[in-house]
Amino acid sequence: MNQRQPNAKNYRPNVNIADLCCDWIPDLFLFIRSVCFKLVFMEKIKIALFGFGTIGTGVAKILFNHADRVAQATGQTVELARICDKDITTRRDIELPSGVLCSNLESVFSDPEIKIGIELIGGLEPARTFVLRLLEHGKDVVTANKALIAQHGNELFAAARQFGRTIAFEAAVCGGIPILSALSTALQANTLQSINAIVNGTSNYILSQMEGGKTSYRDAVLQAQQLGYAEANPAMDVDGTDAVQKLTILAQLGFDADVAWQSVPRMGIESIESIDFRYAKELGYRIKLLAVAERSSEGLELHVSPTLVKADNPLAGVRDAFNAVKVVGDSVGSVFFQGLGAGQLPTASAIVGDVIDTILGRTAITFRTLNLWNSDKPSIAIKSPNEFFGKSYLRFSVQDQPGVMHEISGVLGNWGISIASMIQHEPENKTDNKSAVLILTTHEAREGDLLEAINQLEQLHTVHGNVVRLRVQN
Ligand code: HSE
Repeated sequence: MNQRQPNAKNYRPNVNIADLCCDWIPDLFLFIRSVCFKLVFMEKIKIALFGFGTIGTGVAKILFNHADRVAQATGQTVELARICDKDITTRRDIELPSGVLCSNLESVFSDPEIKIGIELIGGLEPARTFVLRLLEHGKDVVTANKALIAQHGNELFAAARQFGRTIAFEAAVCGGIPILSALSTALQANTLQSINAIVNGTSNYILSQMEGGKTSYRDAVLQAQQLGYAEANPAMDVDGTDAVQKLTILAQLGFDADVAWQSVPRMGIESIESIDFRYAKELGYRIKLLAVAERSSEGLELHVSPTLVKADNPLAGVRDAFNAVKVVGDSVGSVFFQGLGAGQLPTASAIVGDVIDTILGRTAITFRTLNLWNSDKPSIAIKSPNEFFGKSYLRFSVQDQPGVMHEISGVLGNWGISIASMIQHEPENKTDNKSAVLILTTHEAREGDLLEAINQLEQLHTVHGNVVRLRVQN
């Protein structure tokens, strides 16, 4: 046995000076040679940034203020050579070298020295056109644009393959959490069973604020906008669109699911009222906007919905703008990722990580091996929403009179839906003895049956307005 190999039983540190010199002198020589080589020959990689908003400014901060880190990670000098935005006059929170800000896009697309384009414009157009132009001009792309990837993934990835380039998009899902990287590499040995995730920081922030009972829905939305979490159109955060777009990206990576985001059932958080937090707490739950992908023998179940999550589930403790992803794989079991899913530097961290991976060639490897958004690749079957099974929380405003419970349980019973629990409190306002809030939770029921039952319940003259339905998960 080589005597320098440590052995748990008989290893003794060897301090022979001659041996030490033999060990270190060649290493020292190689180190000095590599430093000299880098100083003389280190390549400079030029990149361009499109979109100089909150996230773009964060990317510029990391690339300018921590250039040494990026150089060390890549072994190359990385220069943010151009920043393009339709507004290049408003002062941002960073001093830029002169000549970096630019409004002449064509000169950037056609500059052969620019190797990577970072797209942070958001939305579909002109972002889509810009990405296609970058690829056509032989540049790799890094983007944080989940709407673009979810909507035009097939077209953009086909173009990248055609031009021999790559698209990296870690920041598109869960901001600073490296969930796409984990799904693309370290978890590849698994067949995934499920992903349950909080992927929208804005709605999680709003729900957390409302849960405290002191902040209204409207104030919480305004706060999320001021903190820079919300989309330009915050309706996309609160109506589940943003979450469903991220879910389809997770499903593409985790389950080979080729699915149009518009076809995935989604419910937002707009119908939730402060009373729901009180009842959820009474039942031992918290309310979260959950994005769910669950494999079964009939295919993949996908949905985004406000969900009562059992208080001891780690997802229930994820507050404010934090995101979290619980992945269950057949080998690894359950793994839980948590971090800031929105905001300037967490998102910029993911973008610069993608720039580094692209320079090192890691993106090129996963881009080729995963072969994402390729319509030639077979997709997992997607389960019909009517065939989902699950528990529900139902909130009714009902006429407070004899026989109402009998009517409601009759409708549910006719659809084979079994009641698991019921709460009705005396009205706080004693003068209003005509209506009452009734909360029911159900045992597992088929989604199609539940929706039919709710439809019938809303026709009853003793049920006022719409029934609020949330999913329940333990
Ligand atoms: N509006 C998004 C969110 C930003 O709140 O999660 C990150 O995609």
